[in-house]
Amino acid sequence: MVQDLSTLTAFIDGEPMRFNDGDTVLKFIDRHRGRGHVPTLCDAPQLEPYGACRVCSVEVAMQEDGPRRVVASCHTPLTAGMHVFTESPKIRKLRRNIVELVLTDHPLDCLTCEVSGNCELQTVAAKVGIRQVRYPSGANHLNRSKDRSHPYMTSELSKCINCSRCVRACDEVQGQHVLSMHGRGFNARIIKGLDQSFMDSTCVSCGACSQACPTSAISDVFFSKSIEATRKTRTVCTYCGVGCNLNVATKGSEVLSIQAPTDSEVNHSHTCLKGRYAFKFVKHPDRLRKPLIRYNGHFTEATWEEAYDYIAKNLQRIKEEHGGNAVGGISSARCTNEENYLMQKFIRVGFGTNNIDACARVCHSPTAWGMQKAFGTGAATNSIEDLEYTNCILITGANPTEGHPVTGSKIKQRVMKGVPLIVIDPREIELVPYAKHHLQLRPGTNVALLDMFAYYILEAGLIDQDFIKKRCENWEEFEQGLRNLNLDESERTHGVPREKVRAAAIEYASAKGAMAFHGLGVTEHSHGSKTVMTIADIAMMTGNIGRPGVGVLPLRGQNNVQGAADMGCQPHQGAGYLQVNDEANHKLYEEFYGAHMSNEIGWKIPQMYDAALAGKLKALWIMGEDVVQTDPNTEHVKSALNALEFLVVQELFMTPTAEFADVVLPAASFLEKSGTFTNGERRVQRVNAVIPPIPGTKSDGQIVCDIMQRMGIPQADYTPDGVLAEIARIVPFFKGATWENLTDQGTQWPIKEGGIGTEILHVDSFKRGLGKFHFFRFQESKEIEKHHDEFPFILTTGRILEHYNCGTMTRRTGNAQIVTEDLLAIHPDDAAKKGIESGDMVRIFSNRGEVNMKAKISTEVKPGILYTTFHFPENLVNMVTSSECDEDTMCPEYKVVAVDVEKVPASSMPKKQRMMEIA
Ligand code: FES
Repeated sequence: MVQDLSTLTAFIDGEPMRFNDGDTVLKFIDRHRGRGHVPTLCDAPQLEPYGACRVCSVEVAMQEDGPRRVVASCHTPLTAGMHVFTESPKIRKLRRNIVELVLTDHPLDCLTCEVSGNCELQTVAAKVGIRQVRYPSGANHLNRSKDRSHPYMTSELSKCINCSRCVRACDEVQGQHVLSMHGRGFNARIIKGLDQSFMDSTCVSCGACSQACPTSAISDVFFSKSIEATRKTRTVCTYCGVGCNLNVATKGSEVLSIQAPTDSEVNHSHTCLKGRYAFKFVKHPDRLRKPLIRYNGHFTEATWEEAYDYIAKNLQRIKEEHGGNAVGGISSARCTNEENYLMQKFIRVGFGTNNIDACARVCHSPTAWGMQKAFGTGAATNSIEDLEYTNCILITGANPTEGHPVTGSKIKQRVMKGVPLIVIDPREIELVPYAKHHLQLRPGTNVALLDMFAYYILEAGLIDQDFIKKRCENWEEFEQGLRNLNLDESERTHGVPREKVRAAAIEYASAKGAMAFHGLGVTEHSHGSKTVMTIADIAMMTGNIGRPGVGVLPLRGQNNVQGAADMGCQPHQGAGYLQVNDEANHKLYEEFYGAHMSNEIGWKIPQMYDAALAGKLKALWIMGEDVVQTDPNTEHVKSALNALEFLVVQELFMTPTAEFADVVLPAASFLEKSGTFTNGERRVQRVNAVIPPIPGTKSDGQIVCDIMQRMGIPQADYTPDGVLAEIARIVPFFKGATWENLTDQGTQWPIKEGGIGTEILHVDSFKRGLGKFHFFRFQESKEIEKHHDEFPFILTTGRILEHYNCGTMTRRTGNAQIVTEDLLAIHPDDAAKKGIESGDMVRIFSNRGEVNMKAKISTEVKPGILYTTFHFPENLVNMVTSSECDEDTMCPEYKVVAVDVEKVPASSMPKKQRMMEIA
């Protein structure tokens, strides 16, 4: 039988090869012959085809012996039956001439340079056979000076070949549009912003330009050293729930540079400045390098043996004197799944209590709770990749370009290509200028606004009747709730004109597929769980569940906040979200661990503080959390820690929380250990140790394992793959997870036998059977009811791109040179009334405490609203935040704080501050 090759194949140098729909000629050649078979300069895998330099020229013909034409392979579409000729005398000469001309305007030493390391031009020149350049030159004719303004990126544009890869990376990958080509012809040159330096421009330091540059005309300051690298290790970033893959170059125990792998499904050659550059904290002199024991109020250095003995003796004593329920643990979303799993096992098995919680309590516990109530699973329904297929994006209470920058860039890219964006946020976040709808509500009124949003979907008849009927329950009650809404009251409550809400609701509900993202602006409220359930309602009523390009996607704050909850670091559910007070689950856990386990729900973090103050909680173990800085109502937290008999803290640095400890154990950072992290789309990814733990430190998992063994709690020696194997035996949705089958790309849970992952949840039915609608009527926050008359401003807090959480790591990197302090954003009208100008020191005060910081006059907030970040311990903004919290999960209400503000007269500033002001 003769095969019809024309519909299946094209030809490379006479050989038939299969091709994919949408292939360019270059993609086709790269796939079959390997990248580099055809030389390229202006092309890069992460960028759209451009076709400027023509180095990638090949000949093509529609018959093998038919007439040939020369095309740039990188942007020429392949057609069936096409013959591609990658080598011929004509092509070789053309490529040589082009590269030689490029070299005439490039430093000539590039041909012999031995240290360039990452100069693709040098590689291409060698490939096309250029040994010397015939034309006189020696340097770039524009003779441009170096830019050394930035701690991480530098430019030496005399090396630039005007390929525009940096400009396109800035546009197509990051979406920042800082770089551009200025001038024409012989005067054409790359500029930053308005011909500024990196630091003066609007550059967000993502390094996409540097990674794209073929000649190191723009480069990472660290990258030049990476030619000395003896090893490259792939691992996962520690900074947020995106879970970017990183390629880390090392020499011995020295981290030289970090780049983004081009094949990563999560971040596709991209990271933010934290992932790519903020790694110098690892060897910072402040790192803890020895265990510390407090004797008579002072820390004394100790050996690990002494520290373990001291801890075991004290914990044993407290257990015997007060019972296991007098002990609690706070685990960490910064640590691996294996470490979190062991931590909850240590507390549950070792002390027979469920007093185990994690920092998810203070961020996404309402997401886990709310989504479990609505769908049965407290995790993202879809993948970030679904942005490629969606027709509408709704973002509620999240600021992705700052908090989840790589996802933020992807959202921006989709919106720039025409996908409508709806932003529900009290602030004018960076994405607002790109949004079709911005519903700028009063902080704390999400439920009121989303109820109205749902009402208008119902009113417009845009509900998915079939989906509701077949897949959901409790619709009638929900519908009735919507129909009974008092729209006048709603509008007064949230402050957004109803027509704006209606237009946005119709936009969302009319889309063929719509994705709903949310963040801490949803969860960190007194009705956080209810808001999550209302977002789930909106997705269900429009049938936006269970297929590509739709869903509800929480943007997880910390890198492994999903994993910490999956592993059972919460007081009501053990590993795998099994309710601890359910008889069958209790029996299962007791049999699995061979130990007596409690079937009573344990204390959540705020309850642990109360129990400590009431004398019921005597000992607390905190793994990798700085609760003094990050939990609300700082004085209350400090009092609780003070009231404990015994506090153990595992940490990288001496944090404000570690200062309260009886024993401080020096832990290893993410670059010094192996394990797995689970990102915000349920992707379980391998974290690989890049360097050994710095001398004197141990991984958190090793520490917990050591103390378990020391206390006689059965536990095998610590190996991350060994613990993962144990997890797979008890956590149902990890059943098929093994170290090997997670592969470089990771796998999204549920993971079935053989390592088969799941990209989309609730495809045919919900985890809980039927999706459940919940209607909630808006209730004013108690914080506003109690304190707003006396403290008339609403303070809301968030984070910025350059710093992470309480800044323990990023403040010990070059990021501290880029952003040096927290600022308070205040609307110009309010500032005028209070006599405040940008740069003035102001005092923010609530009935809990006060804090001073500098003001920034800005229209990003409405009158009556203040906004700040919490990255710098000098400001400790949680001195003013309240203990009000989500009713269901006790997630603190960071986003609604009743405060007042006033200018601090220079004379009343502390002397040091005054000197800084004067300087
Ligand atoms: Fe194809 Fe430059 S690489 S035109």
